[in-house]
Formats: sequence, structure tokens, C-alpha cells
Amino acid sequence: MRKPIIAGNWKMNKTAKEAKEFAEAVKTKIPSNETVDSVIGSPALFLETLVNAAEGTELKIAAQNSYWENEGAFTGETSPAALADLGVDYVIIGHSERREYFHETDEDINKKAKAIFANGMIPILCCGESLETYEAGKTAEWIEGQITAGLDGLTDGQVSNLVIAYEPIWAIGTGKSADANIADEICGVVRKTVEKLYGKEVSDSVRIQYGGSVKPENIAEYMAKENVDGALVGGASLQADSFLALLDAVK
Ligand code: 13P
Repeated sequence: MRKPIIAGNWKMNKTAKEAKEFAEAVKTKIPSNETVDSVIGSPALFLETLVNAAEGTELKIAAQNSYWENEGAFTGETSPAALADLGVDYVIIGHSERREYFHETDEDINKKAKAIFANGMIPILCCGESLETYEAGKTAEWIEGQITAGLDGLTDGQVSNLVIAYEPIWAIGTGKSADANIADEICGVVRKTVEKLYGKEVSDSVRIQYGGSVKPENIAEYMAKENVDGALVGGASLQADSFLALLDAVK
């Protein structure tokens, strides 16, 4: 069976002091990682603070981005080797905000996925369609395209360990979450695409999250669905109480 994975994505929020306070408030209350993987995706600036605060606890730490080269003349970028050395477990890649505002392509995201695996971390690969694509009834083919390009050249073993987040852009930060049946249907499209490329054993083990206006009040509806193995949560992961309530709904 696939273990649920709940990941907070703080986006560009908090100061170092606030990040530390959050970690101190939650670290003794994280459920056993035998039942759920609990992850916080922090701005790069606070990763070291969070990794240190989470040491010896079940809380895992994610970066929100990395470059695909380990070192070199790439001003302003973050090395995946340095993230791994710091003790970071996961890296979120291909978030729609990075695709839209920072012009990341499927090819960039694929290179990042390979570099993250090569450094012993796990990518959380995001996909999702715009409102225009959704309304045109083209979501399935869009998602299939993003997943196929994002996974290009990855091995069976890598994809088995991968986390994929389906986040419809129209549901992010809008309070307008996708109906749980739609989330299940499109997470099913993700799984079918993985099956087509890698076979059933791999598609049965890849974990797929839904993201977009997930809150403690609605997370159980998503988690009850066959193809939804977790959630990637923005706004509702920023407060310690709310993050713990999301985990409580799953454990
Ligand atoms: P919200 O939960 O704030 O809608 O954000 C979703 C998201 O983009 C997580 O990556």
C-alpha cells in the first residue's frame, strides 16, 4: 500500500524566526512516519534551521526548487548537492508558479528531477492545467504531456519513489478547491500515464498528491479517493495548528 504524504509548501513566506518557531511548535507532535510522511517545503534560507530543528523527529524537509548542476557559475541558483549535504529530503519541482513566473520548461524540470535523484533526494514533481485548458476539456492530454516530458529518461526505481503533485492552477490560493472526484480522476490520469510509460508495478507505487486550496476541513474528502495519496498544501500549512490538523486528518 502507498503511504500517505502530506507536504506543506510555504512558498515565499516567513522569516527565519517564524520558521524556527513553527518547527519548535510542531516537532514533537508529528505522527509516526509508519502511517504518514510529513513534510515542510521551506524557502532555501530556512532549510538549515528546519533540518536542525527536525533532527531526531519524523518531520521531513523539502526545498522548493534546485538547479540541475551541482556547482559552477550559476549566480543565484541552489545546488542539489548542497541541499542533500544539508539533510534535505525532498525538492518540489515544476510548481506552476515557477513555470509561469520564472519560465521553467518541462525540459528544465526533467533535468532537475534527474539531479535530485542523483543526489539521493526525492522530487515532488508538480503538474497542473490552467482554467482555460480545464474549460476546454483538455486537462487529461495536458497532464499526460507534462508527466511524459517530466519523467523522460528516469528509471523504474526512480519513478517508483517519486512523488507527483496534481495542482490545477485555478484551484491554487483561490479557495476554490477542485471537487474530490475531479482530483481523483486527474490523479488517475497521472497514474495511467505512469503505467503506460513504466508498467503497473511502478504506477502502483508512485505517490500522487492533490494540491489547491486543501484545508483541515476538506483534506479527508481527497484522502478517501483511490488515486489520491496525499496533499501539497500552501496557505493551510503556514500555521502550526493548521499543519498539525492536516496530519491529524490522515494518521
Ligand atoms: P494553496 O493550498 O494555498 O491553494 O496552494 C496550493 C499550492 O500551490 C501548493 O503547492
